[in-house]
Amino acid sequence: MKRVFLETYGCQMNVADSELMAGVLERAGMELVESAEDADAVILNTCAIREHAEQRVLGRLGEFANLKSRNPDLIVGVAGCMAQHLRARLLDKKRVLDLVVGPDGYRNLPELLRRAAQLPTAEVRLDRDETYGDLEPKRHGGVRAWVTVQRGCDKFCTYCVVPYTRGRERSLPLADLVRQVEQAAAQGFREIVFLGQTVNSYHDGAHDFADLLRATNDVHGVLRIRYTSPHPSDMSERVLDAMTTCQKVMPHVHLPLQSGSDRVLAAMERSYTLAQYRTLLARIRQRIPGVAVSTDIIVGFPGETLEDFAATQAFLAEARYDSAFLFKYSARPDTKAYRLRETVDDDEKGRRLQSLIDQQHGISGEIMDGWLGREVEVLVDGPSWRGKGAREPQLHGKSREFKTVVWSDDGALPGTLRRVRVVGATPVTLLGESLAVPRPEPLVTLSA
Ligand code: 5AD
Ligand code: SF4
Repeated sequence: MKRVFLETYGCQMNVADSELMAGVLERAGMELVESAEDADAVILNTCAIREHAEQRVLGRLGEFANLKSRNPDLIVGVAGCMAQHLRARLLDKKRVLDLVVGPDGYRNLPELLRRAAQLPTAEVRLDRDETYGDLEPKRHGGVRAWVTVQRGCDKFCTYCVVPYTRGRERSLPLADLVRQVEQAAAQGFREIVFLGQTVNSYHDGAHDFADLLRATNDVHGVLRIRYTSPHPSDMSERVLDAMTTCQKVMPHVHLPLQSGSDRVLAAMERSYTLAQYRTLLARIRQRIPGVAVSTDIIVGFPGETLEDFAATQAFLAEARYDSAFLFKYSARPDTKAYRLRETVDDDEKGRRLQSLIDQQHGISGEIMDGWLGREVEVLVDGPSWRGKGAREPQLHGKSREFKTVVWSDDGALPGTLRRVRVVGATPVTLLGESLAVPRPEPLVTLSA
């Protein structure tokens, strides 16, 4: 078995895990291929956060079943959160599957694939100590490297399956992370995004998240540092201190709210009240002037009344987030909330969701309009897909606040910083005008 096709679903953590798997496979002499048709083995790296995510994967497995009927030697594997969640049940249910491997089983992936070629194989033990800190991921190209600093979660929010699929929280040693960041910088990555389920609770026994920000702020070649997602209850003054003193740490905080109702927050066991969250948000904005803030919100949690929902709407208006990820509650087996009776039917969840989407769209639009006429510093990602339809080629990149900026191609290279004046805005994109000074034609060419 030589050629492996890896397909990734879900969050950035999964994307980073796929890069880890790719590194493990290549070191074992296997080759990653671009299409399932060319592969000896296919692995789906899956997500279990909402039912919809699992259904997409089951649909995709149906397609692989067809492929396998034409090529019976094809190994089909499911990795990630859904593998952990459904475990051996996946093997029983779908004859098409040969391998089920949870998030702590990737170190032995080559061996597991070889075994799966002989008989159906499941590796779904969670390992309290596995951090993969010593393994080098094979990162996708681009200017942004995602660096997992912590695995698992100990918060056990009542709606969330992650503590069950990814196990207990553990942090990678700081020295491993500094080495990873140095390696990424040497490979040409210019922005580092630290990843963890509750990234700011990072602690390797000797160093906390503030130490990590400080230690990596000095790495040569890195232009920008971001992180996602912090938990409000772990947002310490030390982290804010580090954010204000570390020049490379960008002014953007993703601060999941989940609900604007204290009753719902308590039922979710989020460990903060709305008043505490409000104080924290104000403190972040006070300490980091101009900071962009985004959030996650769930609508339709069991027991969420119209009054609770109105509290979320009111807080959305008050908080004025730059952007928000909005979700319908999805009951997940294993979680505490799974045992609660659902009181909001799907249509009503849909109405609540749409109402928040519309509300946030308006707020994001107003905030983006506020950028008109201003100059932004953009880290260039590369040619913009929008450019295809546009009259002239365009580039895209991110502002310091993680806003997407698109402007006419002025020759800026990916991975460099550019100053751009904002001349247009939509709720999700800033349209810019390059401030690059055209290089004057030399009057005299000096010969060497
Ligand atoms: N249903 C809906 N949304 C969920 N999230 C987590 N679990 C669920 C669930 N069961 C959302 C939360 C979290 C984001 C990553 O996904 O808002 O912050
Ligand atoms: Fe899930 Fe809560 Fe942990 Fe986030 S903090 S991963 S929502 S349990």
